[in-house]
Amino acid sequence: MCQETCLFKHQQSIVDELKQDLKKITEIDDVDVEKKLNDLFEWLQISPKITTFRVNTLLTDADKILTMLLNLKNINKSLSSISIESKLPELIIIEAKKCHQEKEMINHDNEAVVDAACGAAVLRGSHVFAPGIMGLTGGNINDKINLYADITGLSKKGFIKKYDNDSKKYLGYGILRQTRNEIFHEGNCGTGLAIEMIETISGLPQLNETDLPDGFVLLQNFPSIICSRIVDPQPDDIVLDMCAAPGNKTTHLSALMKNKGKIIAMEKIKSKISKMKNNCQKFGCKNVDIFCFDATKSVNNQITNENNNSLLEPPFFKQTFDKILLDGPCSVLGKRPQLFNKITCKELRAIVPLQKKLFTSAVELLKDGGTLVYSTCTITIAENEEIVAWALKNFPCLKLNPARQQYDSFNLEKYPVSSGYPIEDLPSNLADNLLRFGSENNTVGFFIASFKKNT
Ligand SMILES: C[S@@+](CC[C@H](N)C(=O)[O-])C[C@H]1O[C@@H](n2cnc3c(N)ncnc32)[C@H](O)[C@@H]1O
Repeated sequence: MCQETCLFKHQQSIVDELKQDLKKITEIDDVDVEKKLNDLFEWLQISPKITTFRVNTLLTDADKILTMLLNLKNINKSLSSISIESKLPELIIIEAKKCHQEKEMINHDNEAVVDAACGAAVLRGSHVFAPGIMGLTGGNINDKINLYADITGLSKKGFIKKYDNDSKKYLGYGILRQTRNEIFHEGNCGTGLAIEMIETISGLPQLNETDLPDGFVLLQNFPSIICSRIVDPQPDDIVLDMCAAPGNKTTHLSALMKNKGKIIAMEKIKSKISKMKNNCQKFGCKNVDIFCFDATKSVNNQITNENNNSLLEPPFFKQTFDKILLDGPCSVLGKRPQLFNKITCKELRAIVPLQKKLFTSAVELLKDGGTLVYSTCTITIAENEEIVAWALKNFPCLKLNPARQQYDSFNLEKYPVSSGYPIEDLPSNLADNLLRFGSENNTVGFFIASFKKNT
């Protein structure tokens, strides 16, 4: 089962869990399960071939951003194609020129090893910042250096020897911009740019929001951009973004509403609130109110709020919102590339009950005729199709909206998406309404379901 490397620390138990999960698909046999799981593991370990920017249409437009991007020195040489999508004017898609093989790339005397999270960011287009570096053999400032990721989670900070071949994955090479002393800062963590990447095996350009004016763009995954579009908020809507930090979809919803109407952005974890406030300010969002609140407790069970919309603070009256986005906690197994993942089966199983609690609150807070979008950045059936089947069974007021048709109306044929898997209690005709971004597609793993409430 191990592809190139063992992706999961708890490999065998997670493999068994995911196998059981895939067996929920109607009429799948054991051979298909094996193949799907193999494809999935292989796909998770490599980077998507596209980078997507969401342009903040409150402050600028895609044509201006395109011009700025094409003038950046580091983009021209690594660019395969860059496009604006006419139906979604906030979307800019950059395709990688080609993936490089390690043997094709120049090798250098010294090497640095970064942790898996830093490695994944590098393959998506980031340079290397000092806190991500675990080991460095040596080298002078401005030397070219090979970069590897630790795929065991075992490397110790400050490591000086070459790292064992079975424990590292080659990422590319770059230029050393800090000394060993600065990077490890006498045993503490250094700060700032430590290695400026020149080329990586993913072939994606090293490109960041910081290359462009503050608040103009966000590097956001393709399905996340689609997700806010599926919510389709209107300028006069009252919208709840139920699990909102860091606010990436909040700022998109705000732009789609042209800064009108009202968005309530809720987040349980206090330490995430200030970043969310900063993001909303940077993006010029004036229609967003942010609350630190546990969304599972956000329903005021007393009475329904008939006319009084002035009481827009949690806990909310039932039937307060026209649109609700529940982009809540999940196992994040759709992230790509994944170089090493420590998730346990216990953690995986603990998420579903929380997702159901959040979903129940969302249904209560939604107005009659309103839209509830449920999304995750994971690939398990338990957190996706099974939640949909459970919701349709337990809330007869809910029907599925045709999210798939909505996606087709964006004319993004070049970027195909799959339907949901048919499972028990969710036949194909219903699963066809769902959007599943998985190993058949060239982006990150993601899932979107849209419901209409009619009591
Ligand atoms: C997938 S992230 C949301 C990402 C966000 N929608 C965006 O696009 O930027 C899920 C968020 O839900 C928050 N969360 C988890 N449990 C929650 C709860 N009970 N109430 C509110 N927020 C919660 C997490 O802290 C996390 O920030």
